Amino acid sequence: MSILRGKNILLGITAGIAAYKTASLVRLFIRSGSNVKVIMTPAAKEFITPLTLSTLSKNPVISSFTEDGADEAVWNNHVELGLWADLFLVAPATANTLSKMASGRSDNFLVATYLSAKCPVYFAPAMDLDMYKHPSTKSSLQTLESFGNIMIPVTSGELASGLVGEGRMAEPEAIVSLIELHTLKQLPFYGKKILVTAGPTYEAIDPVRFIGNHSSGLMGFEIAQKAAFLGAEVIYITGPTHYKTDDSRVKTIAVVSAQEMYTQVHSYFKFVDVAVLSAAVADYKPKYISSSKIKKSEPSLLLELEKTKDILASLGSIKSNQVLVGFALETNNEVDNAIKKLKSKNLDLIVLNSLNDAGAGFGGDTNKVTLIDKNLKQTVYPLKSKTKVAADILTEIQKQINA
Ligand code: CTP
Repeated sequence: MSILRGKNILLGITAGIAAYKTASLVRLFIRSGSNVKVIMTPAAKEFITPLTLSTLSKNPVISSFTEDGADEAVWNNHVELGLWADLFLVAPATANTLSKMASGRSDNFLVATYLSAKCPVYFAPAMDLDMYKHPSTKSSLQTLESFGNIMIPVTSGELASGLVGEGRMAEPEAIVSLIELHTLKQLPFYGKKILVTAGPTYEAIDPVRFIGNHSSGLMGFEIAQKAAFLGAEVIYITGPTHYKTDDSRVKTIAVVSAQEMYTQVHSYFKFVDVAVLSAAVADYKPKYISSSKIKKSEPSLLLELEKTKDILASLGSIKSNQVLVGFALETNNEVDNAIKKLKSKNLDLIVLNSLNDAGAGFGGDTNKVTLIDKNLKQTVYPLKSKTKVAADILTEIQKQINA
């Protein structure tokens, strides 16, 4: 899954021969899960048809302040479009358009939208080698970079003129990769590794039976997904659940028992910056696992249980710089009990769920939490979807990282 998923991408096409490559560019953006709108300068239509681009982008293509061919004049709002965009890419960017962007000469819809856009702006120059070398072009490029716009470097090779040299627009795949990397680097958790545990654990009684619990694993899943969305590399260690992610920044490790979870967590902990332990780990497991299915021959059956290892507490005792986050599910003296756990397990943050709150805890799509940090600062949140709770938890973790 691309970091561009769900992003609004505005593609501005100007009149260069490389415009023919923008069909591939639009397809790549659409495949990344982003929403694409295309603006063309009037002359760009000579190089690729608006019909191709509107079909691929699934949106009308705009090239002037008023709708082409409309019976009654329809105003195309460059300001609204500029604000809609999460990122604006001008590709190919001709010497003419680069010069207009640099000087603010907004005599077409594309440049007017550029001036209105508040989002990151990328531009992919494309022109013949002598035009590219000209001091006037170099000056435009420098000016645009000084505005904070991001240049996608040209490549070298055969140009439309037949000359060979610098000036070719970067290939669509390279453009998308560069934008993805740049977008990722802007995210708050870029460069951070986060370990998340989720779901229940199953403790075997015999080959077909186990002791488990009703945890759906959704809260941990949402935290893992959101952390990746915010740029983190995620190690997601989960007991048996239905949730799966195709996010390439989430490494999923499926475990069954508390002991397996313990082993996996410990093999990754020293490499991570943050560990969020949201799994509902069994506190006890059968002391003996029957190697064959237990027959119902006896009127009653006694199972001897022994404690599992407390994974969270074990991390608290060895942690160095990691931010360690635990959960507490309480029914009475909630805050006091949570603070006791925070202290005894050496946590930086604890997420308290009270079973007295409707919609909180196990099962369901919602949760109501109180976050308590190591300085005992408490923040009470209203009932929210688990997706939003995950975002709140990560915002607080970010504060702990920077503390
Ligand atoms: N936890 C863990 N390993 C265990 C048990 C729990 O890592 N063997 C973690 C959970 O993932 C959660 C937190 O510890 O982050 C819950 O703490 P715990 O003391 O187990 O809470 P309760 O299960 O509510 O404990 P108690 O029944 O003692 O209140």
